[in-house]
Amino acid sequence: MNTPENSPSSAAPYGLRPAEAQKKVTVPTFADMRARGEKIAMLTAYDATFAAVADAAGVDTLLVGDSLGMVCQGGNGTVGVTLEDMAYHTRCVAEGVRRTGGRSLIVADLPFGSYQVSKEQAITSAVALMSAGAQMVKLEGGGWVAETARFLVERGVPVCGHLGLTPQTVSSLGGFRVQGRTDEAAARLREDSAALEAAGATMLVLEMVPAALAASITADLAVCATIGIGAGRGTAGQVLVLHDMLGINLGRMAKFVHNFMDGSDGVKDAIARYVHAVKSGSFPDDAKHAW
Ligand code: KIV
Repeated sequence: MNTPENSPSSAAPYGLRPAEAQKKVTVPTFADMRARGEKIAMLTAYDATFAAVADAAGVDTLLVGDSLGMVCQGGNGTVGVTLEDMAYHTRCVAEGVRRTGGRSLIVADLPFGSYQVSKEQAITSAVALMSAGAQMVKLEGGGWVAETARFLVERGVPVCGHLGLTPQTVSSLGGFRVQGRTDEAAARLREDSAALEAAGATMLVLEMVPAALAASITADLAVCATIGIGAGRGTAGQVLVLHDMLGINLGRMAKFVHNFMDGSDGVKDAIARYVHAVKSGSFPDDAKHAW
């Protein structure tokens, strides 16, 4: 039987490059990448093995997404995911990245109900995820969320915002719909993006936003790196849900997803092709994947 001690994975999992040859991604790396025009490749991960494979395949940042409520727990959405669930999966992902030499930076979602009550609740929840191995936390929404983001950043917690389609409040949005289509909604997205940057957010996920709007928000922000999902190719980086890009989604595949397993040799190859497609700008193809 393979144990962590006797399996090949303890020495050189998946034939990885040696740890010394990999430059760790840190919080300032994202602004540097943005400044030099290198696209950021983010992918969700929920367990040690996939995190190790994704890290080895060259992903810059792993998101322990509360999408685990759907892909790991089989639920309909993210609302039922708890802080304990997030801490557990963050620990698993951190262990996987540690095994490979730890290049990718780990971002963990603050789940619904873990930051809305007060700023004190938000910092307590963020500390729980950072203690589990996250190096940044993500929280959804604009408006008051910017003040909470500022409170976290001032206390040493790097923050990633999330605007556009925000899955934790999908019922208030009336379903999984493209956001920012009207002038008023677009103006609100611009304002919220600027407020999050002013609050010190390092990254900002823009989900299901028209490509032209996402590109223009990206250009308006000075340092905060936008990460698009269904937001066209004009953002500073891209994120996909791991299971979606491997073509093993249990539900309906969204228009913005591409199945990178098609024509790949295996999971690591598929993820490496995703990373390459993001960095080269060939994914997303705005004619196929954007609004
Ligand atoms: O939870 C998640 O996977 C996410 C991504 C869709 C950005 O928030």
